[in-house]
Amino acid sequence: MYTDILDAVETGPHMHSDAYIVDAVIRSRKAVRAFRPDAIAKEDIVDILDVARTAPSNSNTQPWHVHVLSGRCKRQLSDALARAHTAETHPPLQHMPDPLPDACRPRQEEFGARYYGALGIDKTDVAARLRATARNFDFFGAPIGMIFTIDARLKKHSWLDYGLFLQTVMIAARARGLDTCAQVSFARYRGVIAERLRIEPGYDVVCGMSLGYAQEDSVVNQLGMPRESVEQFARFAGFDDE
Ligand SMILES: Cc1cc2nc3c(=O)[nH]c(=O)nc-3n(C[C@H](O)[C@H](O)[C@H](O)COP(=O)(O)O)c2cc1C
Repeated sequence: MYTDILDAVETGPHMHSDAYIVDAVIRSRKAVRAFRPDAIAKEDIVDILDVARTAPSNSNTQPWHVHVLSGRCKRQLSDALARAHTAETHPPLQHMPDPLPDACRPRQEEFGARYYGALGIDKTDVAARLRATARNFDFFGAPIGMIFTIDARLKKHSWLDYGLFLQTVMIAARARGLDTCAQVSFARYRGVIAERLRIEPGYDVVCGMSLGYAQEDSVVNQLGMPRESVEQFARFAGFDDE
């Protein structure tokens, strides 16, 4: 079942070990922004979440809550969010500092260039960019949409736990041939989401996530986002000691 994933990675020293399979699944994950409409069984999603619930968390506090949406519920939320997005009545989400730290800024610019480039959108075309962002709220055509919430009293280390959980969801999905896109865009519309999904007061929207089978031939799924090399972000010490 891993044939496609394994075919896509280069052979290496671990190619006959479990590490090879695990690494290949991890490396095969990418943000997918065009999905086939093929349905996914509820049991498969439960199975993925059952793996993800093993993610570690500070003092085992497990801060995650997931709303899994399909069919009419997903459509109704998407429609409500599309309306809110078009009306532009919600203040922009300030989820990153402006300006970004120097090291991060060129990476964000590179992402924008690749993403809007793939969509054929000029970065000065604000209306086209708004329409591209709107595709988030349709979960990029995926059959399943997820909304992740957290008790707003929790602090940044619980959000760290959340990141571990989200990555585990994405990897468990990938191991089953499914693809995902984590989407902070949803957090801008907490009010709309809270009303539709009856989210209790005192809970924040962490992000959303699209889940489904990738449209492999879509250009927007071929962004190949680059990463810094290990030498660029890791500093080693003590390895030459006697
Ligand atoms: C927490 C989080 C939020 C994200 N939010 C969005 C989003 O709202 N819309 C979107 O299209 N991509 C979103 N992404 C996807 C990132 O743009 C993507 O992970 C990044 O460019 C690296 O590319 P890759 O995942 O394909 O390796 C998000 C990713 C993460 C981890």
